[in-house]
Amino acid sequence: MALKGIEEKGLLSVTMPVGAFIILLYVAPCSGTLLNCSEPTQPALLSALESAVFNLSAIRPVMSMGVATNVSVFFTLYGILGVDEKAQLLITYLWLTFHWDNQFVSWDPNECGAEKIALPRKKFWVPDIVINEFMDENKAPFVPYVYLFSNGQIHDALPAKVVSSCNLDIYTFPFDIQNCTLTFNSYLHRLKDIRMVLGRTVEETTRVSKSVMTTMGEWELLDITYHDLGTHKDEDDIDELAFHIRVRRRATMYVVNLILPSCFLITVDLFSFLLPPQSVDRSSFKMTLILGYTVFLLIMNDLLPITGNGIPLINVFFSLCLALMVASLLETILITDLLHSSPRLSPVPRWVRILVLQFFGYIVCLPWKGKVSNQADIPLTSAATEKHSVQPTPVSNPVVQDGAAGGKEELKGPLSEDTALQELRGLGRDLQALRLHVDQQLGESQSSQEWVQVGFIIDRLLFGLYILFISISFVTIIIIWQNSYKM
Ligand SMILES: *[C@@H]1O[C@H](CO)[C@@H](O)[C@H](O)[C@H]1NC(C)=O
Ligand SMILES: *[C@@H]1O[C@H](CO)[C@@H](O)[C@H](O)[C@H]1NC(C)=O
Ligand SMILES: *[C@@H]1O[C@H](CO)[C@@H](O)[C@H](O)[C@H]1NC(C)=O
Repeated sequence: MALKGIEEKGLLSVTMPVGAFIILLYVAPCSGTLLNCSEPTQPALLSALESAVFNLSAIRPVMSMGVATNVSVFFTLYGILGVDEKAQLLITYLWLTFHWDNQFVSWDPNECGAEKIALPRKKFWVPDIVINEFMDENKAPFVPYVYLFSNGQIHDALPAKVVSSCNLDIYTFPFDIQNCTLTFNSYLHRLKDIRMVLGRTVEETTRVSKSVMTTMGEWELLDITYHDLGTHKDEDDIDELAFHIRVRRRATMYVVNLILPSCFLITVDLFSFLLPPQSVDRSSFKMTLILGYTVFLLIMNDLLPITGNGIPLINVFFSLCLALMVASLLETILITDLLHSSPRLSPVPRWVRILVLQFFGYIVCLPWKGKVSNQADIPLTSAATEKHSVQPTPVSNPVVQDGAAGGKEELKGPLSEDTALQELRGLGRDLQALRLHVDQQLGESQSSQEWVQVGFIIDRLLFGLYILFISISFVTIIIIWQNSYKM
């Protein structure tokens, strides 16, 4: 109710100058001085004003001290110059406008020839209105004049480069929306002396600000809202008007410069799983990728905001990307090591065979065709024995053929038979040694093949987990960003 009252009062003071003028015409002679101009010219008006009001500039322009001066305030947001995250500052450029009544003076526009006159600011009393959040000096140009209207109303307008403190929340950077407050109040005067009224509705302020704003910088104005702090105000409180300015960061530059390259690098890292794990190329490729990413982060560090309170989610995103790359490099190193040292490893333990070769192998669609190696051993040995049993026939064949072909040599029968037998025995021993060696080799390569398969299966399994983890964390981060970016 009180808010509505103040707004109506604010509207009244702006939209009804004619009515106020008529009232003042009647009231002025009793409350202030109705000027007598000798002729309708500016010098005549000035000389009339000089004797009437200029030597009263030290005091608040009311006839009775019990009457409060209503100062109506509004502003236009002309530019959002930036945000300093480290110092927690919002820098804006405002056009401020103040209206108030000077009850000491009024004149008849017909008699004095002017509806209004611009006069130096220091000739009048001006309210000591400040923006509470101001953190720096006003670097905007100084305006030395104010307008005095014939009904005694004074219009004051001045630009201000406002460096205001603002509690910036950069958790969702670069998709963040900041809500900063500008509180207008008199620095000294109490409510019974100066009352603040809203000179223009905040919707109108937002609309005008959006239409005049020229700086198309990083920040976009969403809306300006107004919040009446003075519903339960005491006479001795200081009246104030609080405006909340909501600005949104344009995120395109950050998406293009920071987020997309990170995603590209992660994608390349993902595809590097296609490189064969047994070659060293893959780990050196990933190492290069990590190096490149680190350099990228160093270069882009300037774009990231730094504050004392809290870490932006995007830093978590970058750390996550780096951690994923490092994890995939570690995984590659382990797999490469496993594949290279597989010939020297002892046979695959039974639980690894069941868990990895059969269970995980089934999950990642890399079924192990060798099955369990005990079964594989049997055909191997049987093949060897078969070979061994077959072997004598081809060996005896040439002897028989030899005997059959060489008719003359049959005379040396027993002697040649003995040497042949001995040679055959030697041959048999050699073959047996050969067989043992081959058996050993085959067994070794069997276990080494199993280790290689274990390596491949683990590689593919971790690749799947990697994709899963990337997808979940990226989707989570995107959802958080999207929620924060809604208006
Ligand atoms: C203005 O002039 C009228 C007569 O023209 C005179 O009665 C009145 O006192 C004058 N007022 C002032 C403030 O000089
Ligand atoms: C203001 O100055 C004029 C002359 O310049 C004088 O006539 C008038 O009495 C002064 N008023 C006050 C309140 O001092
Ligand atoms: C902005 O912050 C103020 C408090 O600082 C709060 O009252 C106001 O509702 C906020 N505005 C929006 C749009 O969230």
